[in-house]
Amino acid sequence: MADHSGFDAHSRSEALFARAQELLPGGVSSPVRAFRHVGGAPVFLSKGKGAHVVDEDGRSYVDYCLAWGPLILGHAHPAVVEAVTKAAVDGLAFGTCHRFEQQLGELVLQAFPYADRVRFVVSGTEAVLTAVRLARAHTGRRLLLKFSGCYHGHVDALMVKAGSGVVTQGLAESAGVTERTAQDTLVAPLHDLDALRAVFAAHGDDIAGVILEPLPANNGLLIQSTQWLQALRQLTRAHGALLIFDEVITGFRFGFCGHARQVDVEPDLTTLGKIVGGGLPVGAIVGPRAILERLAPLGPVYQAGTMAGNPVALAAGIATLTELRRGDAYRTLETLGARLQERAAQRGLRMARVGSLFWPYLDDDAAAVPVRAEDISARAVARFRAAYRGWLDRGVYLPPSAYEVGFLSAAHEPAHVDTLVDVLADVLAMTP
Ligand SMILES: Cc1ncc(COP(=O)(O)O)c(C=O)c1O
Repeated sequence: MADHSGFDAHSRSEALFARAQELLPGGVSSPVRAFRHVGGAPVFLSKGKGAHVVDEDGRSYVDYCLAWGPLILGHAHPAVVEAVTKAAVDGLAFGTCHRFEQQLGELVLQAFPYADRVRFVVSGTEAVLTAVRLARAHTGRRLLLKFSGCYHGHVDALMVKAGSGVVTQGLAESAGVTERTAQDTLVAPLHDLDALRAVFAAHGDDIAGVILEPLPANNGLLIQSTQWLQALRQLTRAHGALLIFDEVITGFRFGFCGHARQVDVEPDLTTLGKIVGGGLPVGAIVGPRAILERLAPLGPVYQAGTMAGNPVALAAGIATLTELRRGDAYRTLETLGARLQERAAQRGLRMARVGSLFWPYLDDDAAAVPVRAEDISARAVARFRAAYRGWLDRGVYLPPSAYEVGFLSAAHEPAHVDTLVDVLADVLAMTP
């Protein structure tokens, strides 16, 4: 186990962060990286290989954040690096059609048999933005329904939060999102069938699309029942609203498919990101021809991108999915995940876990791990924040927020899982 204790432990990271703050707002390119939730300077990483990362001070960590999910094969997997290197040598970008689009397209559509078209974009946010536009164009309706606790990127229409009622017209969650935009989005709680029925009874015929993470993983890991997901499918069908599964985190995570297949619910559209790009910027919208062919140039829904389908990025996606399709990685990941859950239970740690996704829930007083964002206790959050730097000092790199899930990769080993549990538990035992 690495010993990272000592006052000067992150001195270069601190110096770099001080300078970064003079150049970038908050010193970052994306807010959660600033470590505000856990305090202290963020760790500046300089290298990653397999399950390990090294920071600018030369300290190594076992990484359970994995670039927030894309690196399911671990850092710098040889097949992915080789594919990217080859593609880069042949040209970084063309802005034209090229054969990698077909190769990745075939791989993606194999995994989503309900769909027969895919459009590649650059990020999960962009995939969601396009799916929402398609849902509105396809139905000719205005309203969207989302669930509190689900995150779908920083799309205006989805940067909304619930008001005080059970089902509410959205309120802007970010400055710069107009009230009008927010009002076109309805917000309901997860895992609440009565709320769902109420929203469809009141607005069902005006709802263009319902979007959710079928396994919400942006406010902890909020495991939904299959029954609730199936009821949502029935209601959307009955009212002619499209069901959009945002599988940016879950797509290709538990098997060569979406989480949709695991819960036996077929959405109308799926959004992908993260794993589909194997660590480089790729997002995708997947669905049936009747909906996807509303996109330009065939249809009236405009969507475009200079970097969409970039060959180097797609090469990383092709190499990653080709490796995943063999199936060994998923078996490894499930074995590791099961071990994590078992060891955590032995050390008295609460842990929500599906496959290689995990979420330590640090409230011993709670009766169960929550399934709704509203039920996450202040105690669970406070304990995470208090312990985080202690974990870091012992070489465990988790996402720096109590609301984020942890990830395992196929490059992790059983010993990494055991160390993770021991470090989590040992530091917590010393944390007031
Ligand atoms: C479920 C989900 N949807 C959309 C996004 C946005 O993806 P990106 O950060 O690639 O824009 C994320 C990002 O974490 C996500 O978890």
